[in-house]
Amino acid sequence: MSEELFPVPAKWAQDALLDAAGYAAKYQKSIEDPEGFWREEAQRIDWMEPFSTVKNTSYAKDDFRIRWFEGGKLNISANALDRHLADKSDTVAILWEPDDPAAPSRSLTYRDLHTEVCKLANALKAQGVAKGDRVTIYLPMVPEAAIAMLACARIGAVHSVVFAGFSPDALAGRIEDCQSRIVLTADEGLRGGKKVPLKANVDAALDKVAVDRVIVLAHTGTDVPMKAGRDIGWAEAVVDQPAICEPEVMDAEDPLFILYTSGSTGKPKGVLHTTGGYAVWTSMTHQYVFDYQPKSDGSNPVYWCAADVGWVTGHSYVVYAPLINGATQVMFEGVPNYPDHSRFWQVIDKYQVDIFYAAPTALRALMREGDEWVTRTSRKSLRLLGSVGEPINPEAWDWYHRVVGERRCPIVDTWWQTETGGAMITPLPGATDLKPGSASKPMFGVRPALVDPEKGTLIDGAASGALVIADSWPGQMRTVYGDHQRFFDTYFSQYPGYYFTGDGCRRDEDGYYWITGRIDDVINVSGHRMGTAEVESALVEHPLVAEAAVVGMPHEIKGQGIYAYVTTNAGTEDSEDLRKELVQWVRKEIGPIATPDVIQFAPGLPKTRSGKIMRRILRKIAENDTGNLGDTSTLADPSVVDDLLANRPQ
Ligand code: WTA
Repeated sequence: MSEELFPVPAKWAQDALLDAAGYAAKYQKSIEDPEGFWREEAQRIDWMEPFSTVKNTSYAKDDFRIRWFEGGKLNISANALDRHLADKSDTVAILWEPDDPAAPSRSLTYRDLHTEVCKLANALKAQGVAKGDRVTIYLPMVPEAAIAMLACARIGAVHSVVFAGFSPDALAGRIEDCQSRIVLTADEGLRGGKKVPLKANVDAALDKVAVDRVIVLAHTGTDVPMKAGRDIGWAEAVVDQPAICEPEVMDAEDPLFILYTSGSTGKPKGVLHTTGGYAVWTSMTHQYVFDYQPKSDGSNPVYWCAADVGWVTGHSYVVYAPLINGATQVMFEGVPNYPDHSRFWQVIDKYQVDIFYAAPTALRALMREGDEWVTRTSRKSLRLLGSVGEPINPEAWDWYHRVVGERRCPIVDTWWQTETGGAMITPLPGATDLKPGSASKPMFGVRPALVDPEKGTLIDGAASGALVIADSWPGQMRTVYGDHQRFFDTYFSQYPGYYFTGDGCRRDEDGYYWITGRIDDVINVSGHRMGTAEVESALVEHPLVAEAAVVGMPHEIKGQGIYAYVTTNAGTEDSEDLRKELVQWVRKEIGPIATPDVIQFAPGLPKTRSGKIMRRILRKIAENDTGNLGDTSTLADPSVVDDLLANRPQ
């Protein structure tokens, strides 16, 4: 692993909101006096009524509670919009860049966004949506996705955004789990020149689960069937609505959104975030991690987070934090390689982007195409680069730093999770010397610790272990929707008194953290979380499949790929056609992000005598690390391993 050190550039140390000493002092205060620290930080939010308690949290089993800023009243959409109207109403909030560079782009000021959000909020009310109701959002990367989320927040409805790449089945499951009665979607999405049949997917989902209302945005303008009495056009729904909608007074701990994410069981978890702590946490982290402050001429830096709103990065760092901070940002509908591999860098030049935040998987894919696609663009506006979603390998880090950022831009490698709401371990550009591949140091209020995965004891100093977090932070998830017990069991039961992240981690002698990847049954495919059990349950639903076991495998571009071992029913021919069919089957059941990279037909899986699949062996075979499979003597039938090794697809 590279241990090369990239010191903070002098200009950054001088101009940034925080330098090394500033970070150290603030971090120390946040740990020594959390109440005082957060009371002060919370002032970045406009409260309708002040909170009475800052922190009321305990991870203890018999006294489990996570509550922040109790008694405080606020509305997060008012923080993202209304409070900017006095002095920033004409400031551009969103610069929207379409999939097709020849299609018209859009620019929305804070005033425009406020108007659109109010109109939709009124439309939702007119459709009977009330405070606390769940609203499913299944939209492409268009400003209306942000508008929809903020409109829900404005009236106190709880949004559940479902990534527009998910299948009808996955969508139906999520609608059903949170019992939403309304879906907001579009006729079609566009990605890399390809159409995504969103409305048709919603129709298919609604064959399985009923809702009262579907609001359909005309995005590509194609004709889609509208079901009388259920479906209504977006334009029609908002046209007569007033442009003012008073924001609902929300309690700090009122739910803001549900976002489904993969865990180690077959069923995705509805991660629930609440209002006050999330608003403080996301806006604070966004400000410091991206050093978001006016430029020397007083104008807004242009910020671009390339994540989709369907993931948590899009929730926190496209929608909520930048808007709360009054930022100007690019929102991009497309993909990095369409129409060609220069697309990201052309968009950066077009909007003179200062700050760019993307996932390593995209960088690795672009890196492979050669430097020429990058170097033919200017990128002079770039000052800061960010990375998120998976470990960034030192090679990709170096390319990002040297070729994209021409050695002048620090890289903030932000480690966090859907559950954490915002960045937890991350460099700050003016404060942290960088080590390629290390997420470096904790954010304010975050107390990372390493535990021995077997013994459960804390490990000090330079060491590796399971990453846990001692104590709570304001942006922490509050529950698994509808299953509070599962929340406790998943995150707080393994290592009592700590939040368990599911990640493995190394801490070096300088106290830098190096995330090594998931140590549970979650894999990270192109920065997207996927439960191996989810893919397994999709596979076994196929009529010819008896059993399946899925593990991660190293993948040059995706970080991790999906390796599936499949046992078919007796008498089935394990043909190439069946292999292809199973790949399509999983794509249909979950979505293209779950496409298996390798399917190996296996007459038997390695099981212990008690019937437990020994995944360790399957992982080693998938990684092609077959020299040392470890102890196989406890297997019920050790000969299955020989068969797996002999028939490993090349
Ligand atoms: C991984 C995405 C290394 C990690 C914000 C975590 C990372 C999971 C990094 C959460 C990073 C995210 N370095 N690993 N900078 N960022 N991860 O919920 O395994 O989609 O547990 O949240 O992604 O993925 P999620």
